[in-house]
Amino acid sequence: MSNTIINSTKAQYLKDYQVPPFLVRNTELTFELNSGFTQVTAVVQYYKNGEHNLPLVLNGEHQKLISIQLNQQLLNENDYELEEDTLTFTPQVDEFELTIISQIDPANNTSLEGLYLSEGAYCTQCEAQGFRRITYFQDRPDVLSTFTTHIIADVKQYPYLLSNGNKISEHTLDNGLTQVTWQDPYKKPCYLFALVAGDFDLLTDSYTTNTGRKVALELFVDKGNLHRAEHAMASLKRAMAWDEERFSLAYDLDIYMIVAVDFFNMGAMENKGLNVFNSKCVLADSQSATDADYLSIESIVGHEYFHNWTGNRVTCRDWFQLSLKEGLTVFRDQEFSMDLGSRAVNRIQQAKIMREHQFAEDAGPMSHPIRPESVIEMNNFYTVTVYDKGAEVIRMLHSILGEEKFQQGMQLYIERHDGQAVTCDDFVSAMQDASGIDLSQFKLWYSQSGTPIVNIETHYNEAQSIYQIKITQGTPATADQPEKQALHIPINVAFYSEDGEPLALTLDGHTSNEQVINLTQTNQTFTFDCSKQPIVSFLRDFSAPVKLDYQYADDTLAQLILAETSAYTKWELMQTLYIQHLKLNVENAEYVYPTLITELLAELLSDTRLDKAMLAEVLKVPSFASLLEHFEQADVDAILRAQNALALHIAENLKTELTQVYQNNYRQTYQYNGEAIAERALANACLSILAELATDQIQALIVEQYQQSDNMTNTLASMSAAAKLKAQSSFSQIMEDFNQKWQGDALVMDKWFATFAKQDNDDILTRLDQLQQHPDFNWNNPNRVRALVGQFAMFNYPQFHHKSGRGYQYLAKVIKRLNSINPQVAARMITPLIQYKKLDQHRQNLIISELKKLAELPTLSKDLFEKISKSLPTS
Ligand code: TRP
Ligand code: ZN
Repeated sequence: MSNTIINSTKAQYLKDYQVPPFLVRNTELTFELNSGFTQVTAVVQYYKNGEHNLPLVLNGEHQKLISIQLNQQLLNENDYELEEDTLTFTPQVDEFELTIISQIDPANNTSLEGLYLSEGAYCTQCEAQGFRRITYFQDRPDVLSTFTTHIIADVKQYPYLLSNGNKISEHTLDNGLTQVTWQDPYKKPCYLFALVAGDFDLLTDSYTTNTGRKVALELFVDKGNLHRAEHAMASLKRAMAWDEERFSLAYDLDIYMIVAVDFFNMGAMENKGLNVFNSKCVLADSQSATDADYLSIESIVGHEYFHNWTGNRVTCRDWFQLSLKEGLTVFRDQEFSMDLGSRAVNRIQQAKIMREHQFAEDAGPMSHPIRPESVIEMNNFYTVTVYDKGAEVIRMLHSILGEEKFQQGMQLYIERHDGQAVTCDDFVSAMQDASGIDLSQFKLWYSQSGTPIVNIETHYNEAQSIYQIKITQGTPATADQPEKQALHIPINVAFYSEDGEPLALTLDGHTSNEQVINLTQTNQTFTFDCSKQPIVSFLRDFSAPVKLDYQYADDTLAQLILAETSAYTKWELMQTLYIQHLKLNVENAEYVYPTLITELLAELLSDTRLDKAMLAEVLKVPSFASLLEHFEQADVDAILRAQNALALHIAENLKTELTQVYQNNYRQTYQYNGEAIAERALANACLSILAELATDQIQALIVEQYQQSDNMTNTLASMSAAAKLKAQSSFSQIMEDFNQKWQGDALVMDKWFATFAKQDNDDILTRLDQLQQHPDFNWNNPNRVRALVGQFAMFNYPQFHHKSGRGYQYLAKVIKRLNSINPQVAARMITPLIQYKKLDQHRQNLIISELKKLAELPTLSKDLFEKISKSLPTS
């Protein structure tokens, strides 16, 4: 019953899908929560799905089977077959009831899947395949049923006993325990089942839908954290209103509960009527949470709420269709954030995720389409590809159809499939039928992996007054798929004249300075009529998740950056300018940056019309991860050197301007609104660049900001800036002060762990070892592990990639340890090791030798097995 590793490492294939042999009318569960084992009784009415003689195969793991009854008659061991992870039974009738009693051990469940304890509270996580750790069941999303849940426990210890749907009864049993019963009227797959039992502080509120339903809103947090629950509650109400407004979708139960738990593998989970959240994604007040935390909470609360329609009411037929709910729901949460906040800054973040993480996934051993074709461990496919590229695919659909037709498509999708488990094809069909637009080629985005490269050449013919754009597309072969086809790629372009004015060009009778080029073939030439030579920006607003291969001249970039009317695209073009020169600097250590860069920055900094939050992004030098995408094989040291040189170049040349902008935007007193967030972002971006100078004056400024700060955004920004200073005494003092102040508040201490983990410090490994001994550190808590080890491996480029290989060795050691505690977290943590192909041969060899050692582990989880076996060289 411990976390023994099940060694079935066979892949499952999308093409092998078969309908479930039996369906379920109702599922009735009884949980007896004692301090030791939990007894689960499942009473399930099955009926045959079509004509066949197939057996009923139930999934079940990590539990002890106590008894099985068929229509209330006890079965004996010859009546069924019990194997390591299945229970097989061949019924003689078409309709029957099974009563299965089994025992599970939540107290020793460190995997955080199934039923487990988080700081003394029971909670469940069933997606993707955790329900099979609770009882024997057909654990697949296309088996839907209503659920009735009885929870029996001591209410003195567990005052709140929660499950999905409505509470229909509560009474005291003869033995003094309390039994609470919940009923969920909506049919759902078992991955949406949830149970929580514990003692919490409760924030209540209510919301009346536009359909007139009064919904009780209940937010449960750890005792003493009520003051950190308000922002999440306000976010929930905003999400409910937004979904009515923009998607015409209203909530469908009389109660909506959110429980925040400390031990959680991911961000949050959309269980019907009872979301379970990582406390990190709920709790916030100005003292302890940054602006980024506030915004991320709002978007995650929105995300889980939006799943109620896209995921729960309409769910997935099988797990290969995961992007059906995740890509669509990410798109919805993105639009929610964009409608409420800065569209440009949100788009910048989305583009960064794609370029820094998703492109890397596509270029690595785990490459897969947004609808994967084969899977060993489903938990490994909750990826940036399925989620974020999935959302980009929906975004392209949205831009091809336009808002109105897209919303008609959504309505048709829900009308057709409410209460069903469906496929990505069903979704695209609804969009096609509602819009009348042929999406047959577009559908390739679901089945083709890899990042397309779009090469552009332009030619202006003055004599004929035409401007030609010649486009070639190609998707390089990926680890999973050698052959690629031409995709339907929408490429947004804008034309300007050399003096920066919008310039209208004509294509197919349509005249505008902004056009969408629909690329559908491998090679295609688009001929525009024009009166004079335009300057053109391509792939505006990141209109497709592709790499653009177009050589902009420096002066064209400069003109476009000033002329562009899209704030996102200004940022994008500035990135292009940085990257072009960073590349030159990587190749040639003597190279210096052109004054053009600082001249442009100075001009942008003085433009008061610009979105300050966007300007803050413009001031950030492209990250190591985004630069990697521009090299076949990266010279790690040269890239880091070039990045540092660029940041220093900006700091030295714009010291006065940056200091001025800092002073103009720094506020002593905290406020929370869009303008104040943007000002903090801009001031702190200036501080971060100025820290490169490491002068006494800057040091004093950083220390002063730390001391004056009344909010976590400014506190953390000064900590990160201090980490860059050469003289370490200020940094040490700040860190010690923070430790004194926040010790015992682990969620806040995560920021402290992360600041240390990211510091470019040659003693980093000693530091990490020491931090692992800190009273707030805990290997069993994924948030702690991610804050310390994850931040080191993902963001401390110079130290993680240290030539000696010591960074890789450290991570491998951690993964070995996590393999037996929590396979899901271990497998997520291994990403920076398996994406080694972009590194130099020396570093590749160091990593491969660590991966080989991990592969030898006698109890390697399926999760790690899948990733490691795909990443080891085949020879
Ligand atoms: N469905 C969740 C979401 O909103 C993802 C999720 C939460 C999850 N917890 C998980 C996935 C555990 C796998 C395992 O995106
Ligand atoms: Zn989701």
